[in-house]
Formats: sequence, structure tokens, C-alpha cells
Amino acid sequence: MIDINAVIESLDWSREPKGLYEPIGYALSSGGKRLRPQLALLACRLFGGDETKALPVALALEVFHNFTLLHDDVMDRAAVRRGRPTVHVQWNYNTAILSGDQMLIEAYRLLSEVEANQLPNLLCWFNEMATGICEGQQYDVDFEQRDDVTIEEYIQMIRLKTSVLLANALRSGAYIAGADPQQQQCLYDWGIHVGLAFQIQDDMLDVYGDPNTFGKAIGGDICCNKKTYLLLTALQRAQGEDKKALMKWLGQLASQDKIQAVTALYDKLGVRAVAEQAIRSHSEQAMALMANLPHNEAADQLNQLVKKLQNRKS
Ligand code: IPE
Ligand code: IPE
Ligand code: MG
Ligand code: MG
Ligand code: MG
Repeated sequence: MIDINAVIESLDWSREPKGLYEPIGYALSSGGKRLRPQLALLACRLFGGDETKALPVALALEVFHNFTLLHDDVMDRAAVRRGRPTVHVQWNYNTAILSGDQMLIEAYRLLSEVEANQLPNLLCWFNEMATGICEGQQYDVDFEQRDDVTIEEYIQMIRLKTSVLLANALRSGAYIAGADPQQQQCLYDWGIHVGLAFQIQDDMLDVYGDPNTFGKAIGGDICCNKKTYLLLTALQRAQGEDKKALMKWLGQLASQDKIQAVTALYDKLGVRAVAEQAIRSHSEQAMALMANLPHNEAADQLNQLVKKLQNRKS
């Protein structure tokens, strides 16, 4: 089995100019769960493929994911990631923009190393995914300014910003292994549900996580008025004085007081249990889809991964 973490760590960024490449090495050597490349390799193995053939796309997806994080941290005013200062804090905004751009180019360079006859489809899906993520990120930003976002709009937003990357990792791995289109689609849908559960869990950890294990600052979403599953549920449930208080806090700038007050309202309104139920529901929908896919060691690992992600703390 490929040790994906070791392969990513071994990528060499000791190039000139240092101002461009050092932040890339910094971002890619700071750990992370390596979820997307793992999914691509597992999907390949699920259909009996040779995982070394899926390695270029696995690496491309991880570099692409880390690129999105550099820009996302600028957009979200986030100062900490994986327990370290974010790139725009450690360097500056220009660095986060340009090193991020270069990571996007590196992702395409890695992708181009797949087998030539498979490149057209993989490239087409990669582009579709990348556009989806940009659209999702734009909705995410647009929603900060709105207080009438529906749960359906939120689900569509996180499907784009988070799920399509996971789903594309799986579909690409399956395709490389020669899975038929229906099976590719089934695994893609599996990834969509896992991604929805994953993002709702991320929203939860942003409020209830331990900053030492989560590696990101707690309350960042509250500070930005992000329309997370928690906030939308709170807006739906709050009545009278609670609704007034919540709306007042949404009109305030970021502060520890705001984080504490909004979290207290979440607790009072019981939104955490509603979010946990949504995570369970999407995880179960994913597991049900597994019935249509091969049963082997890779399938077991995919199912274990869903359970592990449901209980994740980072
Ligand atoms: C962070 O993704 C972005 C989201 C979609 C929530 P991960 O939680 O997979 O980040 P790393 O790579 O493990 O740090
Ligand atoms: C993640 O959304 C989506 C992308 C990075 C594309 P978040 O903004 O919630 O991710 P984190 O919490 O910063 O990792
Ligand atoms: Mg963010
Ligand atoms: Mg974001
Ligand atoms: Mg988040």
C-alpha cells in the first residue's frame, strides 16, 4: 500500500524564488488528514486497480485541496490551520495568493502524469470539480451577508465547496481501475454524502472542537456570520428574545463575546443534536450506497473511514 503521507512529504519545494515555494512546502508538510488522496487510492483498490496508476491524481487532489486552503484562509480571515499560523499570517496576503496560484498549477502538472488515454476524462472532471469549488466558495461568502439562507441552499453550497472534491477523488480512482460508469457514479454519490457529513462536522468542530486537536481557531465561523448548519438551525428555532439576541449578535463585529453569546444560544436551542442527526443521516445514506459496490478489503476501509470521520476531532 502506498504511504501517501510519505510521498507528499517527499515532494521537493527547495526551488527559487524561495518566497514562492517555501510557503508551498510549509502548507504541504503541516500534516492534515490526507483524506482526498486516500479516497482516490482506496477507490482504485476497490475495483482491483493498481494504485500506483492513481497516484498522480491522488497527489494532484491533495495539492489542489491545500491550494484552496491558502485562499480560503484569506477569505475567512483565519489565522491558524493545523496548529500553525496560516500562510497569509506567516508571510502575507500576496504570498497566500501567489503561492496558492502556483499550487493550482502544480496540481495540474501532477494530474498530467496519469496515463495519456485517461487524461481527457480525468482533466474534464478535475475542471468540473474546480469550478464547483469556486462556485461553492462564492456562495459561502455571499451567504455571510444574508440572513434568509435556507438549509437547501446551504446543502447545495457545501456540496460544491466540499463534497465534489471527495466525490471526484473517488470517481477518478474508480475510473483508473476500470470500474463501469454506474459504479463510478455510485461511488461519486457516496462521496457526496460523506462530504456533506464531513462539512457539517467541520461546522460543529468550529464551535465545539478543542483548538489543540482541531488545529483551527474556535468560533471563526461565528465571527464571520458563516451560514453554517448550526446557525441556520438556530435561526429556524429561535423565537422572541432569543431571535432578537441572535440577530443583534449577527450585526456585531467579531469578538470573544460574540462567540460566547452565539454558542450559548446554540446550546439553549439544542442545535448541536440537530447537526449530529444530519451527520448521521448523510453517513448512513453513504453506507447504504456501499451495498451496490464490491465487497472487499478496500470497501471495509471506506466504511471504517466514514465511521472514523463521524467521530473525528480534527
Ligand atoms: C478542510 O479540510 C476543509 C474542509 C472541507 C472542511 P480537511 O479537514 O480535510 O483539512 P486537512 O487537510 O485534514 O487539514
Ligand atoms: C472549506 O470550508 C471549503 C474549502 C476550503 C474549499 P471551510 O472554510 O469551513 O474550511 P476550514 O474550516 O477553513 O478548513
Ligand atoms: Mg475556512
Ligand atoms: Mg471557507
Ligand atoms: Mg470550517
